[in-house]
Amino acid sequence: MTKISNDYYANLLRMLEDKYVAADRNGDLAGGSGSGGGLVRWERKRRVIAAAFDRGGTWLDVGCANGLLMETVTAWTAQKGTHLEPYGLELSPRIAERARIRVARWADRIWCGNVMVWKPPMRFDYVTLLPEYAPPELRATMIERVLRFFLNDGGRLIVCCYRPGSAPGAHTGDGPSAPALLRELGFTSDGAAEVRDDDGTRWTSVAWIDRKQPGL
Ligand SMILES: C[S@@+](CC[C@H](N)C(=O)[O-])C[C@H]1O[C@@H](n2cnc3c(N)ncnc32)[C@H](O)[C@@H]1O
Repeated sequence: MTKISNDYYANLLRMLEDKYVAADRNGDLAGGSGSGGGLVRWERKRRVIAAAFDRGGTWLDVGCANGLLMETVTAWTAQKGTHLEPYGLELSPRIAERARIRVARWADRIWCGNVMVWKPPMRFDYVTLLPEYAPPELRATMIERVLRFFLNDGGRLIVCCYRPGSAPGAHTGDGPSAPALLRELGFTSDGAAEVRDDDGTRWTSVAWIDRKQPGL
């Protein structure tokens, strides 16, 4: 089992847990998933993720927060005729509870656990995650783990990078590039997509790796 740093996750939850729960309770759905500026901005930032889904299947959103990405990406892909069955994994029991209350129809598909140690009860056709779910020295391990133990053969890992500073105007330049990040960690992307803000800076960048079928 991977040795994980409890301090890393305690800090992470200190930074976001109360904020996400309060936003969700107050009806700020995007805030309940850590994104400032409301739902119109949410769609401008997140819709690009739908480009990574090119056929139907099961999808695990690691770090699902209040479940908003599960709902919206499923709706956006449905518009192009791609049917997804979304599942969620969330580190914080309090945040996972918000997701189960809000998206009650998927309550039994929202698990609580840390992607670094959690044992998935099934395999998925797609998994989405953010690099920050592991400290920098364990990011390659996290990606290996998801490719080996979470995905079906031919399944797709989608790494999402968001520009920090989620409030309008709070950012200072380009956000990280997902393909560059995967390269630095020793992986080659099978595809990528990004969206830029009005000022031309990189807003959201996604890159994906397909789990190769055995023998290919
Ligand atoms: C920024 S939100 C992402 C929401 C949504 N998935 C998206 O991409 O917009 C990050 C969520 O990931 C959770 N998280 C962080 N590290 C995690 C880990 N190691 N395993 C599972 N969830 C994690 C946090 O508690 C937080 O709710």
